[in-house]
Amino acid sequence: MNKQWEKWSEEDIRSFQDKFLNWYHDEKRNLPWRATNDPYAIWISEIMLQQTRVDTVIGYYYRFMEQFPTIKDLAGAEEQKLLKAWEGLGYYSRARNLKAAAQQIMAEFDGEMPQTITDIRSLKGIGPYTAGAIGSIAFGLPEPAIDGNVMRVVSRLFCIEADIAKASSRGVFDEAMRTIISHDEPGEFNQALMDLGSSICTPTSPLCEECPLQEYCLAYQQGTQTDFPVKSKKAKPKDVYYIAGAIEEDGRFLLVQRPETGLLAKMWHFPLLEVDQATYTQLLAYWQDQQLTLDAVAEEPAPIFPEFPVVWQKRHLGEVTHIFSHLKWHVLLFYGRTPSEFSLEHSQWAAPEEFEQYVFPKPQLKLVEQLKKNHKVDKHF
Ligand code: ADE
Ligand code: SF4
Repeated sequence: MNKQWEKWSEEDIRSFQDKFLNWYHDEKRNLPWRATNDPYAIWISEIMLQQTRVDTVIGYYYRFMEQFPTIKDLAGAEEQKLLKAWEGLGYYSRARNLKAAAQQIMAEFDGEMPQTITDIRSLKGIGPYTAGAIGSIAFGLPEPAIDGNVMRVVSRLFCIEADIAKASSRGVFDEAMRTIISHDEPGEFNQALMDLGSSICTPTSPLCEECPLQEYCLAYQQGTQTDFPVKSKKAKPKDVYYIAGAIEEDGRFLLVQRPETGLLAKMWHFPLLEVDQATYTQLLAYWQDQQLTLDAVAEEPAPIFPEFPVVWQKRHLGEVTHIFSHLKWHVLLFYGRTPSEFSLEHSQWAAPEEFEQYVFPKPQLKLVEQLKKNHKVDKHF
């Protein structure tokens, strides 16, 4: 492996940093977590930004900071309130880990955000990226914060061929970054890379003509920008199929709560039944074939939820899909009625106006949207 950064002189590095930081000071995005030096606020923003786009994060960030303004508030947060604040952001273990880490800080660090990389790394849910981001932005430590954006820019700068999908490639990027990072303004330097990666050095068509790093960029000089980063294909997420029932009685719908552990722990949704792909396709065809209008009643209920005494089933209300990292959910929503005394374990009846009080995962939010869109009040039911 050709380590091109080793060829840079001290002078090269300094002029590169000056150029880049000047660009950043002129062009940087005005983001709420850049207007604070509260390490706690910076930590929250970095956790939110890990798997979520900046535009989406902004609103969540303001609401979260208002609800949980200090580490102490977060450490004492009620879990359902915390998850509610995170609702729709996904990867809910991030929220649970935040609370656990806040409790750790109360117990081990006197309620103050720790200030060394080792201590920051010891907190639940904080990996090398987040530790580097907090360390550099909040405490001025010359630590890299390597995420997908940074790997893209740096791989192009030095024509690094290491496969970014492999954890073992981290070391190469870490080494390159430690060579070029500014020790005077490490937080700004890291954020400059993030901004460049999102606005100029973009995945498919980088705007090299506007790039402040053009004269330093090896891939640009060779015309090979889009050959980098090298990334092997991830396995496709596994398809799983569910039937969901919007089961109504007296204007209320049945919701069930997930178990304490596992995917989407303790969150609520309509009853779900996992089916195989063939059954799913068959049911979809059956419903489409029935052409049930909103007024019509199915003569023969579809053979779903055999274990529930669902009395009427109307046309299906829609289909939603949602990708969790390794799984792709396909959910077919149907509407049904059932005797009111009927209930399931860990279930509650709730009117749509009460849905707000429950924490819903993203697919359930999409199902509720389908229900609202397609369900009309109908005297037959
Ligand atoms: N993505 C991750 N961290 C970020 C930050 N501090 N500013 C902008 N985008 C980011
Ligand atoms: Fe990215 Fe092009 Fe700038 Fe190189 S010159 S860093 S490829 S935008």
